[in-house]
Amino acid sequence: MRIEVVTDPAAVGTTAAALVADAVRDRPALRLGVATGSSPEPLYAALVAHVRRGLDVRQVSAWALDEYVGLAPDHPEGYRAVVDRTVTRPLGLDPARVHVPDGSAGDPDAAARAYEAALTAAGGVDLQVLGIGHNGHLAFNEPGSDPASRTRAVPLTERTRAANARFFGGDVDAVPTRAITQGLATILSARRLLLVATGEDKAPAVAAALTGPVGRQVPASVVQLHADVTVVLDTAAAALLPAGRRAATVS
Ligand code: GLP
Repeated sequence: MRIEVVTDPAAVGTTAAALVADAVRDRPALRLGVATGSSPEPLYAALVAHVRRGLDVRQVSAWALDEYVGLAPDHPEGYRAVVDRTVTRPLGLDPARVHVPDGSAGDPDAAARAYEAALTAAGGVDLQVLGIGHNGHLAFNEPGSDPASRTRAVPLTERTRAANARFFGGDVDAVPTRAITQGLATILSARRLLLVATGEDKAPAVAAALTGPVGRQVPASVVQLHADVTVVLDTAAAALLPAGRRAATVS
């Protein structure tokens, strides 16, 4: 695992985007796994700058980690819309190559299985961008999730719903109670993982995930089981890592 610590969220974005841009140059038809949430937004913004400078993303496809269950298909906080707003349109990706679980399906379990099957049929994710929740969740794999889990419908914890209420006008009751999420084993099937986290509020989860025991209580701890992981943190998010695990600040 490579851990890079940089000064602030903007530097997390530029550092992580440089890695994604290199991956696209190596493999123009890169299958990019995209996370939602605030953490990767500077990454996507910095990636747009690479595209403006000539990075060719016409063959890139994107695969979302998760989606709320039960929102209208055009709801602005549904991850379909968020991915469209933060990834697909700014980067100019072909919308036909952008995949998000169908959270409005009548049968979310069947929709989850269909998403896993489509991802497998496509060959899996080459490079997976990840954020981390305050409780150590990865995508919507909440504490207690099975490391062998695959894409499935899950309940959301109150802590996660409260954290995400900011996207729903502060109204926690407006946050869906369920989601479809790639499973932990699905995420670990990606060839490379790129975890980004910023802010002091993420420091306990980051330290637990990267240096604590691997187990169900901290779902993101499973990244320790992957052979090719890059973590990009700002100094605030890295604050609780043991000094030996913090790479030099690079910008
Ligand atoms: C969300 C998403 C995760 C994300 C995490 C952290 O609920 N489902 O994929 O990584 O929680 O979000 P943020 O980056 O906004 O703190």
